[in-house]
Amino acid sequence: MNQDPISKPQALSVLVVGGGGREHAIVEALSRASSVSDIICTPGNPGMHGMARCIAGPQTPQAVTALAQAQGVHLVIVGPEAPLAAGVIDALQAAGIPAFGPTQAAARLEGDKAWSKAFMKRHHIPTARYQSFAALEPALAYAQTHPLPVVVKDAGLRAGKGVTICHTHAQAAQAVHDIFAQAEDAQVVIEAFMQGQECTVLAFCDGVRAVPMPAAQDHKTIHEGDTGPMTGGMGVICPFPLSHTDLQRIQTDILDVVMRGMASEGIPYVGVLYAGLMLTADGPQVVEFNARFGDPEAEAVLPLLQSDLAQLALACVGGQLSADMVEFAPQASAVIILAAPGYPAEPQKGIPLTLPVAQPDSHIFHAGTALQGEQLVSQGGRVLAVQATAPTLNAALGRAYDLAAQVGFAGAQMRRDIGARIGAVPQVQ
Ligand code: GLY
Repeated sequence: MNQDPISKPQALSVLVVGGGGREHAIVEALSRASSVSDIICTPGNPGMHGMARCIAGPQTPQAVTALAQAQGVHLVIVGPEAPLAAGVIDALQAAGIPAFGPTQAAARLEGDKAWSKAFMKRHHIPTARYQSFAALEPALAYAQTHPLPVVVKDAGLRAGKGVTICHTHAQAAQAVHDIFAQAEDAQVVIEAFMQGQECTVLAFCDGVRAVPMPAAQDHKTIHEGDTGPMTGGMGVICPFPLSHTDLQRIQTDILDVVMRGMASEGIPYVGVLYAGLMLTADGPQVVEFNARFGDPEAEAVLPLLQSDLAQLALACVGGQLSADMVEFAPQASAVIILAAPGYPAEPQKGIPLTLPVAQPDSHIFHAGTALQGEQLVSQGGRVLAVQATAPTLNAALGRAYDLAAQVGFAGAQMRRDIGARIGAVPQVQ
């Protein structure tokens, strides 16, 4: 990092909010940050043992602020979308505690997809044609005459599972019905399907500047060949190979426009911006924005981060970010998710897990685990994110699959085609 080390605050105490694989990866990156001496995670997870003090508790604005005050932390990093949408950052700011993440108003970019699409339209950000609806009948009428395939999205937060790509009008009608059955005040976004490779660009943002991290590609359906129901994400490759032209367009036509647009509307964006993109014949288009690190993208991207994450977060909070502060190792990273049997509909909990001994340049991030006495067990849908770093993507995939094969987890679901979309082939050691 290009900063005078003497002026850097040292011995920082950092509180991380969340308890999944993304937060485990954030904690791991902080554990390598030379300015950090103490990490607390609420609620945290069993995988963080030895890196962070895990403190149980709700993720409400009041509870997180009280914990941050009681622990005297210098910085709070919020992982998941729900506390951001609930206003945790606003409460921390009001208490004078440096907090990395967007305010409640800025987190609408993720939390309200109808607002987010309207924002993109106002600022001419490339995205699919769409209409949004707050009532069932007009939504059904629109969906049933829309050219196929058509994409039906719940406008609210649904942990990455509120999107259906519909290949028949009957499917589209069902998806619309399902969204309005969830909540009376639901809103639905109906948009044109975009063809192309999908990728994720995460960017550190300080309210004015957006500095991208290496691009990644998630694999969102449960089954190989991109089939089956949507999940939170089943595996990631990083870097995803973007052309120089696409990289430039993403910066100038998307990231920079978001920063200017949000500032001009009085809601400057600070934190990590997640741009979910489709690389179409007309150039990169936005599929969705999220207001946080992706999960499992964070588990692939953050192990490559060489800069001090706490210093980057403080620079963003202070409006002092510059591109030369953000350094990543010129390596490749792969993540393979081990999910519980039954995921995403009804994941089985309580399945005993046995983990292999730690290996260099790899991590087993805990996404949904718990301790029953001494026994580690599954506790969520996505249970473990097995990550490996290597000089090439094929080698990283080979190492990640090899490590995943050593995990004891009866009935685990795992996609064996992570990286295949771009022609990557796991390289056997
Ligand atoms: N990996 C998808 C997400 O974080 O929303």
